[in-house]
Amino acid sequence: MKRREFLRLGTVAAALPAVRSFGAVAGGELPPWAEAKIDEAVARFRAWKGADEVVSFTFVTDVHSHLLEIASKPDFSNSRYHVLFAQAVADRAECDFLVDGGDHDYDNGNPSPENALKRMAVTKHVYEGYAAKPVLFCLGNHDHGSYPADKKSPRPISSALFGDTFNGLAEKHGFKLAFGENKSWGFYDVPGKKFRAIFCNTSDDGYYGVSVSQLDFLKKALETMPEGWTAAAFGHYCVFSEIGHWKNPNMTLFSCKRRKEFMDVLESFVQKRPNALAGYFCGDSHFDNEMELRGVNWTIFQGYGGVGRANKPWGARTVSFSRAKDMLFDIVAVKPSVGEFKIFRVGAGGPVCDRLCVFHNRF
Ligand SMILES: [Fe+2]
Repeated sequence: MKRREFLRLGTVAAALPAVRSFGAVAGGELPPWAEAKIDEAVARFRAWKGADEVVSFTFVTDVHSHLLEIASKPDFSNSRYHVLFAQAVADRAECDFLVDGGDHDYDNGNPSPENALKRMAVTKHVYEGYAAKPVLFCLGNHDHGSYPADKKSPRPISSALFGDTFNGLAEKHGFKLAFGENKSWGFYDVPGKKFRAIFCNTSDDGYYGVSVSQLDFLKKALETMPEGWTAAAFGHYCVFSEIGHWKNPNMTLFSCKRRKEFMDVLESFVQKRPNALAGYFCGDSHFDNEMELRGVNWTIFQGYGGVGRANKPWGARTVSFSRAKDMLFDIVAVKPSVGEFKIFRVGAGGPVCDRLCVFHNRF
């Protein structure tokens, strides 16, 4: 960790009475294995970028950590703390923003409303000291803190509470975001770059499901985008379920409410403006996969979750790794002028997991 980043974390930790400074960790530095992998990925990104203008972001997803307590120092063997790596990458690669694809996992590992809120507080803690760039959060199906036993009472973590807690941070840090009915979905216009980053909540109606209100917002967010701009959409669940589902007879393939309507919104938009949507980026499946369908690029990131070999559908790819010795997230860089984006793996799998997509001139 660069000294500047270390100081920032130390400052925030000092502001929280129950927390001791992260500065006790290895003299305020990231583990050497992390430094090496971060530098290598950032170098690959820079080489591809060259002198071109890019819009870039880190995409961390499916952290799936059950940590209940804020530690006195980061435990880098726990994936919850790997978001600190993404923050370091965003600074070094000069990314425009960060995306957290959801499923920090508040409803497993001794679930209860109290524990869900405690886990959420740990996630907030590792993010709230990072004010350099906006972080866009997408709520995952494991982030509501589970259904109460009667399935009628409110969930421990509502979409509104999630939005206030996480996407509210970017506002507190001075970034201008537009929000929908609550702060769990909205968009961020990257200053000076004609780029709209739209973050979605794919569990705002049921376990997987998108509300009518959110669909309306998504449609307007795309339609009101000025000519000459490029958009990207983010969510947890791969709404194009055919490439994201697990091969499991106990799971329903198309169980996401209004998934077809969601796909229609994106497809209708690219029919009208074929070069104006880089794609939809998500997690949830715990494997890498991607496909273009009717002009929309659907991209899935593996992240930190697991998936059995027999559950992987055609095209799905995974890399095994130890969270104590490696990380797994990506940098995404979009070049709107030439209509390409490239994904650079940070950590497990390395350059073999990089992906290039051309999104211009589809029709
Ligand atoms: Fe997950």
